[in-house]
Amino acid sequence: MDTKPPEGANTYRIAAIPGDGIGAEVVPAGLRMLEALAARAGFGLDIETFDWGSDYYRRTGLMMPEDGPARLKDFDAIYFGAVGATDIPDHVTLWGLRLAICQGLDQYANVRPTRLLPGIEGPLRGVTAAELDWVIVRENSEGEYSGQGGRTHRGLPEEIATEVSIFTRAGVTRIMRYAFALARSRPRKLLTVVTKSNAQRHGLVLWDEIAAEVAREFPDVTWDKMLVDAMTMRMVLKPATLDTIVATNLHADILSDLAAALAGSLGIAPTANLNPERHFPSMFEPIHGSAFDIVGKGIANPLGCFWSAVLMLDHLGEHAASARLMRAIERVTADKMLHPPDLGGSARTEEVTGAVVRAIWAENA
Ligand code: NAI
Ligand code: MG
Repeated sequence: MDTKPPEGANTYRIAAIPGDGIGAEVVPAGLRMLEALAARAGFGLDIETFDWGSDYYRRTGLMMPEDGPARLKDFDAIYFGAVGATDIPDHVTLWGLRLAICQGLDQYANVRPTRLLPGIEGPLRGVTAAELDWVIVRENSEGEYSGQGGRTHRGLPEEIATEVSIFTRAGVTRIMRYAFALARSRPRKLLTVVTKSNAQRHGLVLWDEIAAEVAREFPDVTWDKMLVDAMTMRMVLKPATLDTIVATNLHADILSDLAAALAGSLGIAPTANLNPERHFPSMFEPIHGSAFDIVGKGIANPLGCFWSAVLMLDHLGEHAASARLMRAIERVTADKMLHPPDLGGSARTEEVTGAVVRAIWAENA
């Protein structure tokens, strides 16, 4: 796909990787939406789609070519769907594609905004949009998902498996700096550092110590520390006390599904895998997986994928287009007739996409 911009406007090279399951439904919807937005907002898109994922694996024995991350290096951004298939183990699909890209392109900051959008009722009684407005920052390069460990004595009674969590001073410092800076950029300047240093007395104690060190660089940010188990209660019972949240790879993975559910549905939740220094392209994707139970039915909610494009446009510096898209998404969520089944309605992917495209065009600004 190639959209010609007006003279003088920027053109962005985007690598699209729809992947598996509903990824192959929501990314095409996202590309259709982006084409309309580019035409309306006046920027160009040069999109190359990659057929990597489980079908590619069935053909080649690999989820993507070995030089996959290298082939992505010269793009401005990556727009990703989901991976996961019923006939291939999840650790093969996830590590073979998504995690290999995140680690290979050093996308160490995973950013997950969560808000109650207009027209969406979350499961928390009486909680308003103003009371549930969070950004979760997930450490995305090490911690529990460092990939270190191994198995020996396979199949024998003495079989051993280790899964080594790695916390490095460099890795923790950079994610803390990112999270404190993000908290400072938001009106409340409030950060909660999630930990489990009571039980995990090495890596997570280093995590806490570095949080306190970095906090001294950000005297205008109010911060507190919360054990991850207690954090699940606080998210449910006192959502308004939270704003920006930073957590390890595993903890934030779990907390962000909870956050998505509290904001109405996993189907709307977006994420950005960022290399903040821009040495490598960043990757934008809905947080959901391939959703075997609804694949092929035409009812996948594309809004998580669209909201991820909002984050992508912001990262590319197209702030006006990003804001226009967010307003279009909110106009659509405000109308319950346009809610897909995961939000309690009956709208199909196609209808939601068409409605967002119309909302993009309808606005005069
Ligand atoms: P999932 O996110 O695919 O689905 C969980 C539930 O949410 C399902 O009931 C599904 O129908 C619903 N759901 C998710 N996205 C939706 C959408 N856009 N619209 C409507 N409903 C939606 O998670 P699950 O079932 O744990 O995993 C399925 C596969 O996806 C596994 O192979 C897993 O490894 C993979 N996965 C991949 C991820 C990724 O690529 N980033 C993230 C999470 C899981
Ligand atoms: Mg997850």
